[in-house]
Amino acid sequence: MNEFVYAYPTKTYLGENSVAKAFEAELGRYGNKILLAYGSGSVKKNGVYQEIVALLQQAGKEIVDFGGIMPNPTYAKVQEGAALAKEEKIDLIVAVGGGSVIDCCKIISAQAKSERDIWELEFTDHKLPTEFIPLCAVVTASGTGAEQNNGAVITNEEKKLKCGVWGAHADFAVLNPAYTLSVPMRQVISGAFDTLSHCMETYFGTPRKDNLSDEVNEAVMRSVIRNIRLLLVRPDDLSIRSELMWASAMAENGILKIGKVTDFQAHQIEHQLGAYTDCNHGCGLAVLHPVLYRHIYSGAVSRFAHFAQAVWGIHENGQDENAFALAGIQALEDFIREIGLPLSFQEMGITDDSCFAAVADSTALTAGCCKKLTKEEILNILNECYQRKDL
Ligand code: NZQ
Ligand code: ZN
Repeated sequence: MNEFVYAYPTKTYLGENSVAKAFEAELGRYGNKILLAYGSGSVKKNGVYQEIVALLQQAGKEIVDFGGIMPNPTYAKVQEGAALAKEEKIDLIVAVGGGSVIDCCKIISAQAKSERDIWELEFTDHKLPTEFIPLCAVVTASGTGAEQNNGAVITNEEKKLKCGVWGAHADFAVLNPAYTLSVPMRQVISGAFDTLSHCMETYFGTPRKDNLSDEVNEAVMRSVIRNIRLLLVRPDDLSIRSELMWASAMAENGILKIGKVTDFQAHQIEHQLGAYTDCNHGCGLAVLHPVLYRHIYSGAVSRFAHFAQAVWGIHENGQDENAFALAGIQALEDFIREIGLPLSFQEMGITDDSCFAAVADSTALTAGCCKKLTKEEILNILNECYQRKDL
């Protein structure tokens, strides 16, 4: 195992009464002025906004409203929020939403405390922000685990880049499974697949020898697979939704990454595809994973064979290790089909492949979990994902 230091700054509350419980315990530590940030309006339709406003008012807080954060949040929206937070001298940001709202607020929190443009600070000066407005994340759509980390995925429209930007860790995160009941089922499932993707992108990183982080990871992956299947049969079951919310948090709270070098090459490709097409994150990953893995598995055949057995329950049955490894990738692909996610970009509504060369060219190359890819290989993978003539 690699050496590591592990500490975690985000206090997490999970459960149906978690919001009232968390606010009662935590709000007293912050000043009066709250920036209440949310997305395109789902929280007003399902009553979550009204509930949170009432709890904040009961606690004697003054609310500054900041709505309209879009899926795949833009850097322009970050700047708008930061200007408002600065002007209003905000004491605490309460981000209510999915990964997009939470990510946008992580950077608002940093930008409002910095005179330097955060993008320039991080990508030109190669420095990280050090001061933040405290942040609370109330999760309404789970899967990204965004409430657990300080990485935000922000789309810079001018630069045509969707990048990881470093911002604030939430001081506290609140996960109420009931808040997710109004999320369209396809979004719930694509969010849960995002969790599975985070697990896989960590699991196939190095080292790949048996280690505790990977064994915990296998349990999380099996749990996500089982609970997605259960949720499709019992969509209103809050216990299943709680399991998926906690799995989402577990995939991003650092525990599975202890002693590992993660890869996230599928994410890097998907993010750039998102910068050009504004596609759904979990769906993009569902299409990419099987194709990517068939390109790279030969660099880690034993690991993929172990994945087949430990995660998908496939028995060796005398097949050679290569066939065993491929059976695991096939099981992943069959699962994606079974849960109704797309297997090609065309299936997910991308009908123009003219941006693929630019997507490949602008994708960040990682060390590669089993094989370092070239831009040319990424373009081949994107082209293969477009139509999947083999299906
Ligand atoms: O805009 P609102 O009204 O909130 O509607 C959203 C949005 O349309 C809706 N929604 C959320 N909660 C709802 C709801 N609809 C009904 N009822 C509710 N309770 O769902 C839609 C999608 O929301 P979004 O936040 O975009 O989804 P998700 O949580 O999947 O986040 C995706 C973003 O997170 C980034 C992705 O790249 C993408 O930008 N990621 C962030 C990560 C991180 N910070 O660690 C890791 C991930 O790998 C990912 O890259
Ligand atoms: Zn993701």
